[in-house]
Amino acid sequence: MSLIEVKNVTKIFGTDPQSALTKVKAGMGKTELLAETGHTLGIHNVSLSIGQGEIFVIMGLSGSGKSTLIRHFNRLIDPTDGQILVDGDDVLSLGQKELEHFRRKRMSMVFQRFGLFPHRTVLDNVAYGLEVQGVGETERHEKANQWIETVGLAGYGDQYPSQLSGGMQQRVGLARALATDADILLMDEAFSALDPLIRSQMQDQLVELQDQFQKTIVFITHDLDEALKIGDKIAILKDGVLSQVGTPADILMNPADDYVAEFVRDVNRARVLTVDVVAKPPKLRLSSETLDKALGAMRRSGEDVGYVVSSSGAYVGHVTEDALEGAIASPGDPSLSEVADAGDVVTADSSIEQVLPKVLDTDHPVPVVGPDGSFDGVVYPDALGEVLYADVQVDEGVDAQADAPVQAKKKTPEPVDALAGGFAPPHPGWGSKELRCGLCPGSLRQRYDA
Ligand SMILES: Nc1ncnc2c1ncn2[C@@H]1O[C@H](COP(=O)(O)OP(=O)(O)OP(=O)(O)O)[C@@H](O)[C@H]1O
Ligand SMILES: [Mg+2]
Repeated sequence: MSLIEVKNVTKIFGTDPQSALTKVKAGMGKTELLAETGHTLGIHNVSLSIGQGEIFVIMGLSGSGKSTLIRHFNRLIDPTDGQILVDGDDVLSLGQKELEHFRRKRMSMVFQRFGLFPHRTVLDNVAYGLEVQGVGETERHEKANQWIETVGLAGYGDQYPSQLSGGMQQRVGLARALATDADILLMDEAFSALDPLIRSQMQDQLVELQDQFQKTIVFITHDLDEALKIGDKIAILKDGVLSQVGTPADILMNPADDYVAEFVRDVNRARVLTVDVVAKPPKLRLSSETLDKALGAMRRSGEDVGYVVSSSGAYVGHVTEDALEGAIASPGDPSLSEVADAGDVVTADSSIEQVLPKVLDTDHPVPVVGPDGSFDGVVYPDALGEVLYADVQVDEGVDAQADAPVQAKKKTPEPVDALAGGFAPPHPGWGSKELRCGLCPGSLRQRYDA
């Protein structure tokens, strides 16, 4: 269900935004508007739908409108045009009292520049939201101390923001937002001043928090790896206009334009994409057949491997023609389940990087098995090749905009010895084509001939 709806929102900064809006509606772009009228187009005709319990990431270059967009959600900014609905309520129609209540209870925000109170201690900064909610001192200090500890600042409660480093101040801002228990968290570059280790821990913690409490989190970042790691959906803004909204896999595999393509160009796809993206239905599924029937089905199908499932759909193992013939010839009349070889399996939420050695080392497509034992598909080595090595291609019909700051680049193939990096030689099924190594950050390419 959609919790936050942004409908055709435009924000123009300047002295007469309405007259500038007429020009924008007539087709004037950001650069021209600024040059001709001195108005800045913050965001332009943005529509979005953010689901309850989603981590929704907003990305874009500096100045693309990320902070402007997120600030509309709690009405720190009013739009020049358009509508914002939260839980079906039009936030623009909230009166002062309702707005205060809404900001106190529904949404809390971590600001890009921390926004801490300089004359309050760390403890009182973190407890601030609770204080405004009327929570008593003992309780709010207890809660605040828990969050201070969670963000790694135990012992700093009595210090003042100016006594902390930038990254520490950012963590105070984060603890303050988390302490209020609001169900929507707005986080503007909340992790950008953290060092990599703490940052990675905070990312994990955020995902855990969301899993546990089903908070809705709108998260702005410059860092694509961060976006791909935590985002259920990612929106990419360019010059105030939405280029694309999609799942990490959508964004990686089908970038809508050259700007998005450039963002994702160097992503380590093997680490980001999960097995469910590449799993396919098996060609031959065998259940309660006799061995003879299973052998007949196998011969008719022309498949080398059949996958045996129980009557309840649980994965049992795989069989080959040889194994079936051997079992039929043997004394003892074994059942199909007894003949099936359980072998290696993978799970749908594993990264491709994790399963790659197994998929390449196994002489048949590796089964994907759910936590309840269900048989959810198989992974063909070729399918891995397709997603890891496919060139990032923008639809042919989409022309690069003349003022696009970045273009998807075609690179000359370079020799690759990176296969030494734990990566097996290409599978014959990968065919003869120019490939891009999705495993290696950077631009390694190779022409593989089958
Ligand atoms: N208060 C303001 N007055 C005038 N122009 C503004 C104001 N706030 C933002 N802008 C303009 O709106 C555009 C978008 O700014 P915004 O701060 O939303 O970008 P951003 O994507 O958050 O960038 P960054 O990654 O650098 O934080 C910019 O061109 C900026 O100059
Ligand atoms: Mg910003």
